[in-house]
Amino acid sequence: MAVVIAGISGAIGSALAERFLTERPDEPLIGLARDVHKVSKALREHSGVHVLDWQAELPLDLTGHPEVREQLELAKGGVTLIYAAGLLHDEGVSPEKRVEDIDQASMLRAFQVNCIGLGLLVQTLSPWFRGKRLACVAAVSAKVGSIDDNQLGGWYAYRCSKAALNMMVKNLSVELPRKYSPIACVALHPGTTRSALSDPFSQSLAKLTVHEPDATAANLYGILAGLSEADNGRFISWDGRDIPW
Ligand SMILES: NC(=O)c1ccc[n+]([C@@H]2O[C@H](COP(=O)([O-])OP(=O)(O)OC[C@H]3O[C@@H](n4cnc5c(N)ncnc54)[C@H](OP(=O)(O)O)[C@@H]3O)[C@@H](O)[C@H]2O)c1
Repeated sequence: MAVVIAGISGAIGSALAERFLTERPDEPLIGLARDVHKVSKALREHSGVHVLDWQAELPLDLTGHPEVREQLELAKGGVTLIYAAGLLHDEGVSPEKRVEDIDQASMLRAFQVNCIGLGLLVQTLSPWFRGKRLACVAAVSAKVGSIDDNQLGGWYAYRCSKAALNMMVKNLSVELPRKYSPIACVALHPGTTRSALSDPFSQSLAKLTVHEPDATAANLYGILAGLSEADNGRFISWDGRDIPW
């Protein structure tokens, strides 16, 4: 078995990595980060972890990493890909309150990071999904990407790109089982979690339960560890409940 975590420098990505290393110390972990120096020293120097340069905007290049290819080969299909990269705000992107705030460049960036990056990663990694063991594609999505659940509006780039990510997962859940079985493709809502992504919204989050990253990782690990083919195509909340698409 092997675990690949895209966005391993993030709060949820790194907490998930630590949880996997605790629960499954013998399984190799491959972490992808656009700035490897932002990945904790403990993860970077861990003997079971390979940290690779990766940007959501570009295909993952494994040509210079024969050791990673070998780990994926040895997994015999049992590859768990967790997409924990995401963008809500950065220098050029801030969540829109009104339709007048929509900005083309921000929308494109959000789609690149929140949705397209997963598709490109699956393109590269799916050959290693073939085998007798269960492969998993788990996208860390967000409840605000649920079309049915949208009561508040706003946050156009984030909501639309997470809805697109959900459709990406749903599409993968239809196509991939035809080629790679057993497999489970799921979208996960991590719950509100303390991180750089949620930090600017701490005032509005005051009314919500905010989980620490390690608590979120424990919740998500519980879901991931229990996945089977029967879960393929689900949008699952941190507490195990289904979220409407
Ligand atoms: N925190 C919450 O309350 C919450 C709620 C619902 C859903 N989520 C989702 O959970 C996921 C993880 O978020 P988080 O809270 O852990 O936030 P975070 O700490 O800001 O982590 C975001 C991760 O995405 C990476 N990233 C951003 N742009 C990238 C790019 N262009 N290429 C490669 N990597 C890129 C970041 O890399 P750098 O470290 O280099 O910036 C970081 O590793 C996201 O998808 C988010 O939408 C979070």
